[in-house]
Amino acid sequence: MTALRESTLPFPLHARGKVREMYDVGGDRLLMVASDRLSAFDVVMRRPIPRKGEVLTAVTRWWLQQFGDLVETHLIAGDPDTIIDHVPALADTRDQWAGRALLVRRTEPVPIECVVRGYIAGSAWREYAAHGTLAGEPLPGGLRESDRLDPPIFSPATKAETGHDENITFARVRELIGPGLADRLRELSLAIYERGRERARERGIILADTKFEFGLRDGELLLIDEVMTPDSSRFWPQETYEPGRSQPSLDKQPVRDYLDELASRGEWNKRPPPPDLPDAVVEATTRRYLEVHRRLTGRELGP
Ligand SMILES: Nc1ncnc2c1ncn2[C@@H]1O[C@H](COP(=O)(O)OP(=O)(O)OP(=O)(O)O)[C@@H](O)[C@H]1O
Ligand SMILES: [Mg+2]
Repeated sequence: MTALRESTLPFPLHARGKVREMYDVGGDRLLMVASDRLSAFDVVMRRPIPRKGEVLTAVTRWWLQQFGDLVETHLIAGDPDTIIDHVPALADTRDQWAGRALLVRRTEPVPIECVVRGYIAGSAWREYAAHGTLAGEPLPGGLRESDRLDPPIFSPATKAETGHDENITFARVRELIGPGLADRLRELSLAIYERGRERARERGIILADTKFEFGLRDGELLLIDEVMTPDSSRFWPQETYEPGRSQPSLDKQPVRDYLDELASRGEWNKRPPPPDLPDAVVEATTRRYLEVHRRLTGRELGP
């Protein structure tokens, strides 16, 4: 399968995000197609990363199959033949989506990014370093960057239409969507993340934090979107973990290192337009994504 910058299927486009296209394939179902676009420092690179979309799709599907006892999910099917059984009209374009798409139930997304942090990094570390708080709540003193948080912390954000999502307090979530739904989101997010963190740890991966999305369908709450992928989470290799500094990323590190080097030479300011990635960086990144899939699922992603 060649790298895909953007899919164009003959179905109404329900939404196009930084990484995925969602097609309305009828009967209240969506085809969620992961392209090979990669964003780093919040800028989408011009060159797609071969196999990245397949990895995101396979990882999401693998997780979704393990949470049936905790929450209903949007997944209908991931196997291409089964997807075609459900939506025969997809047969003609099979080559364009097979392996990178999931058939899901369409929902009304709850407008909250359900972030869970089991290690303190990124914007959470910056907030803590400046104010001693996370999501507005005080944390114990003396934490180092990348330290583990026990128990993990729910630190929600609003889904911003453009630009960066805005961190909000849990009290604000309860005001926005009502206390009952807010409590349920927090409880489910923590339960799913804790199981994920444990499973990943058994495979030598630190799942430092992640973001879930939920949707409502006929009054029922479903886990939607991608789940605990390298795009929605921080994946750190266990073997180089060392609190007190930022950690290398298991997936995007080759790209980040290259971009940091350009920035340090004054050749890129970390704003659009993105620079071109050299072949070696693209290839190294594909290997990293395949490695994430292999470590996590214990299986090779087929050719
Ligand atoms: N079952 C579902 N029903 C309805 N919408 C869904 C469902 N699953 C995922 N979505 C939505 O589809 C979109 C997925 O695309 P994508 O993740 O690329 O975009 P995004 O989240 O808007 O932006 P970003 O690139 O910052 O993640 C999201 O807006 C997500 O809320
Ligand atoms: Mg998204």
